[in-house]
Amino acid sequence: MADTPLPPDASSTVDAERGAWKSKLGFILAASGSAIGLGNIVFFASNAYQYGGGAFYLPYFIALFVLGIPVMIVEFSLGTLTGQSFPVALRKLVGKRGEYVGWWTTSSALFITMYYITILGWALSMLFGAFGGLLTDPAVAPFTGMTEPTAGPNATVYFFGMIATPWPLLAVVAIWAMTILILWRGTATIEKAVRVFVPLMWLFMIVLIVRGLTLPGGIDGVLYLFTPNLDGILDVNVWQGAFAQMFFSLSLGLGTMTAYASYLPKDADQINNSMLVSFLNCGFEYIAGVAIFSMLFVFALNPAGTTLSLSFFVIPQGIANFPFWVKGFGVFFFFLLVIAGLTSAVSLVEGVAAPLKDKLGISRAKALTFVMVPGIIGSLAFALPFVVDPDLTGDGTLGLTLLDILDHWVFRYSLLVGGFMECLLIGWVLGAANLRQFVNEHSKFSLGPWFDVLIKFVIPIILGVVIFFTLLADLTGGLYGEAYTINGFEWLPVVIPIFWIVATIATSIFLTNRPMHESTPHNVPAEA
Ligand code: PFF
Repeated sequence: MADTPLPPDASSTVDAERGAWKSKLGFILAASGSAIGLGNIVFFASNAYQYGGGAFYLPYFIALFVLGIPVMIVEFSLGTLTGQSFPVALRKLVGKRGEYVGWWTTSSALFITMYYITILGWALSMLFGAFGGLLTDPAVAPFTGMTEPTAGPNATVYFFGMIATPWPLLAVVAIWAMTILILWRGTATIEKAVRVFVPLMWLFMIVLIVRGLTLPGGIDGVLYLFTPNLDGILDVNVWQGAFAQMFFSLSLGLGTMTAYASYLPKDADQINNSMLVSFLNCGFEYIAGVAIFSMLFVFALNPAGTTLSLSFFVIPQGIANFPFWVKGFGVFFFFLLVIAGLTSAVSLVEGVAAPLKDKLGISRAKALTFVMVPGIIGSLAFALPFVVDPDLTGDGTLGLTLLDILDHWVFRYSLLVGGFMECLLIGWVLGAANLRQFVNEHSKFSLGPWFDVLIKFVIPIILGVVIFFTLLADLTGGLYGEAYTINGFEWLPVVIPIFWIVATIATSIFLTNRPMHESTPHNVPAEA
């Protein structure tokens, strides 16, 4: 299919009123702050462990170059090319069907934001716990399955005891308040926050890595993580895990990066920006992996179970066994989680609020309110402390059960399906060569025709195969959560995925068919 030229009115110059980064550094800090989050510290290490260390990191490394950096170039350049956030940018470039896709991923991003902030609320509660008795005193939990006396500190028991109290509801509200505060004046306030938080999280991670590596035997964990292991290479689950993790870690597939890039000048070098942000993100991830794996091996800890268990049970348990300054390191670790997650949550909310503002022409405050109201309700639902599983055979509380089941569907499908559709639209409808030409005009390096092949064929095929096998596993393996004990709410495993699908599709249809606000500064083709 021959590539047609870009729509004549597609390109933009930066619109200062809409918002603009003060400097390239501000943008890089914000975008890397979005990328570096819970995904890097918690999910990477638990995925790497689950899929066998060295067997995971090779597919992950390949995923970075084949999928990660190219899709980031696409998402960044959509923002600078149009000066708009994701759904509106897609509408301008590929027409109405693009806008449907854009709103579908944007509404999925709101679901992810809800539970991401709940997890941050728990991290904040654990931070308070670290100041108190989390790492030093025996814990008591209100679960019959856990009444065994525990002699020393027990992070698992502490965590379940904590989530079964109303305190995390307060912590969730506090995290939402901080997120909105950082977003209130747009790029100006985001830039201020990331200038402090992003360097701080690197510093804290370096402290933890030094601690991990200087523990006797710490290096064995690093060897486990980095010794290539070819056994897993043929296992489709390893590749699926690596690709989903790569998308989540780089904040791709949901339009977040397009919202951030829309505040850059049109001539920003997006190849350079994509490489910088991706390398910063993956560099941080490897450092986090080293810190965590050294600890796992020294204390012979096994992070089996959910991805959350690593940060909430396993690492604190390791820290409780440190030879000295236990509370200090505990506080360090949870503070790190909170600030790394906060800069990601900020980008998630911006990724939803910016399109509402662009499309409906409403004020920033109004757009943030539209996101915040359902967002807070959702986050509070995931923090509901009611015990529905007193023997703790599954997730214990109603909130954690909701979160676990929703995460299964949203994490596995929304980012990858978003990326898949985005590549098809950009590759075939806009024309990958057109986008490449725009990118090359402003970049020191040039992308060759191989970029078109990646966007049109390689990435959609890879993602298509991965999505197919994931779906197959879900369809043949029994409904996720079916086997859980959820006293009184046995219908949740059926209702949650249906609710997510119906809500996101309905939102997408509704918003796509709303008229585009006239004062949107860039002319949008009436019907592309
Ligand atoms: N990249 C973030 C992390 O690793 O925790 C999570 C994230 C943020 C995912 C923003 C998606 C997104 F749009």
